[in-house]
Amino acid sequence: MSDAGELDALLQEDRRFRPPATFVDQANINDRDIYESAASDPEGYWSKWAAELDWFEPWQRVLKWSPPHAEWFIGGRINVSYNCLDRHVEAGRGDRTALIWEGEPGDARTFTYAELHREVSRFANVLRSLGIKKGDRVTIYLPMIPEAAIAMLACTRIGAIHSVVFGGFSPDSLADRNNDAESKLLITADGGWRRGSVVPLKANADAALEQSPTVQNVVVVARGGDLTEQTAVTMKMGRDHWYHDLVAEVSSSCPAVSMDSEDTLFILYTSGTTGKPKGVVHTTGGYLTQAYATTKAVFDLKDDDVYWCTADVGWITGHSYIVYGPLANCAQVVMYEGAPDTPDRGRFWQLCEKYGVTIFYTAPTAIRAFMRWGDEWPKKYDLSRLRVLGTVGEPINPEAWMWYHEVIGGERCPIVDTWWQTETGAIMITPLPGLTETKPGTATHPFPGIEAAIRDESGEDTTAGYLAITKPWPSMLRAVWGDEQRFRETYWSKWPNVYFPGDGAKVDEDGYLWILGRVDDVLNVAGHRIGTMEVESALVDHRAVVESAVVGKAHEIKGESIAAFVTLKEGIDGSDELLTELRTHVSAKIGAIAKPELVVFTAELPKTRSGKIMRRLLRDIAEGRAIGDTTTLADPEVVKRLQAMHEDEEG
Ligand code: WT7
Repeated sequence: MSDAGELDALLQEDRRFRPPATFVDQANINDRDIYESAASDPEGYWSKWAAELDWFEPWQRVLKWSPPHAEWFIGGRINVSYNCLDRHVEAGRGDRTALIWEGEPGDARTFTYAELHREVSRFANVLRSLGIKKGDRVTIYLPMIPEAAIAMLACTRIGAIHSVVFGGFSPDSLADRNNDAESKLLITADGGWRRGSVVPLKANADAALEQSPTVQNVVVVARGGDLTEQTAVTMKMGRDHWYHDLVAEVSSSCPAVSMDSEDTLFILYTSGTTGKPKGVVHTTGGYLTQAYATTKAVFDLKDDDVYWCTADVGWITGHSYIVYGPLANCAQVVMYEGAPDTPDRGRFWQLCEKYGVTIFYTAPTAIRAFMRWGDEWPKKYDLSRLRVLGTVGEPINPEAWMWYHEVIGGERCPIVDTWWQTETGAIMITPLPGLTETKPGTATHPFPGIEAAIRDESGEDTTAGYLAITKPWPSMLRAVWGDEQRFRETYWSKWPNVYFPGDGAKVDEDGYLWILGRVDDVLNVAGHRIGTMEVESALVDHRAVVESAVVGKAHEIKGESIAAFVTLKEGIDGSDELLTELRTHVSAKIGAIAKPELVVFTAELPKTRSGKIMRRLLRDIAEGRAIGDTTTLADPEVVKRLQAMHEDEEG
């Protein structure tokens, strides 16, 4: 959580931006009454959104809320793939562009809705031919290629539960997720391009599969182009199958199954404070309703828009705002495989110009990097078609907001700073671009139909404290896969019947909500949550390490970077080689995003008398600040020694 000083600075923000009148006139939502009407009848309000989807059977009841369990659109039957594809094709929109994909090397593929419908149907038949049935878990470990979206949609078509694992995760992380979900099938690729190098996904998958006993079959997509020519993969007979061979053998007709509104749609793993990542469970009708509604309302999506969300499908943003929300809206969606600085730092803007992107959704960490790279990159390209800009993942600094507004948005595009989480499934707190007067750095107000508050520890309303979501919402998580106790403890134990997201927040004198960041031991590195505990476990797993404590350290671009304090086994010296080895070790155990930027060797860690590591003090040290209150420390000298050591390292 931010310091009081930082907070005051944020709240002094008095720049305000009204949506331009021309924008307001054409906006999907420009009537302020929506907030009040949604609040007075939330069930009626959400039903109206749900009714914009196609249901095989109508629901009998909108909501059953027996905290912490919610059911939405009870008795309703629906299929997500049907809503993203078939209904558009049946409405005569089959020739409309669905997906515009570009690979990092510049190769491109596009799919119309009819083409995507055929591909998804084919692959759904492949899944069936491999014995996948409704309710089975399928892990998807792919680069950002069209097959990622196709595989997700194919699962939903037959009721299989997908678990997408970000392609940057290590074999160990992949194996943990396969095992927790007891996945029967893994879908991967020979590799993908990232910053000019090949990410060897199949090789990683092979390593993971040695410890994934439940996985019976593996489907391997040939990424194509130079990559496939250059990458030799080993195919294990009987287990591994090429995607292109399988799809060639099946029919392109596969009716979408009728799913119960509350059938599980997918699992997505996310980091928590303790132990292994949690499998966040989302279900069907409510999830799709809110993903659909927010895409349409928050991005003001229209038929002639070209929509680009730069997230990876391995994160919730990719699920809700590359695949399900946009396709349910029949949007024209851009998908890009690679890095923003390949072949050069203008890549995103070159893509915006080339495809005429009108709606652009990215993360503050990316915006900070663009700012640092300089205005000359975006200035080289025609960005005049952009009309709505979005951000997600962490609080956006007002300077970054202003830069986004001026340099990318040409001062004409409303910015939607959207707060939400893997667990919330869809956007929860956000401006509406045709209604909200924005201020740089605030996510403003709950989306209509969502109720949020700021509470203190005891559950009283306050102006600065913990963010709380006080009413159930359609796309809320329904469970932590296989762990009811963890579900209750993590989200529902702070206050009775109120959801605890784990973020600090403050409300200003105009009633705007300012999200201040995590209040638990969860880091936010480049917009992605990483549990301190995961990194600590990876460090302790190294033969030289006895104990470690990991904290977040403010980082100019990434928001937070990881600082690790490490106690070595007796007799082992903290050499530079070991330092490098430990960083590589964490990267190999979890993935490159978890690599500590700073490693400090220490003979002991600052602990309270009850043995709790004082992370606050470690953060002070890592950020080179004066040390706060140390009166509860068992041995105050530890901190002085640590601080002296850290100064040596930095010096
Ligand atoms: C955490 C959720 C939701 C997709 C991306 C991350 C932080 C997210 C904002 C925002 C301030 C934000 C919160 C939240 N966060 N959006 N607009 N302003 N903070 O998903 O990995 O589930 O992380 O990201 O701390 O709890 P996630």
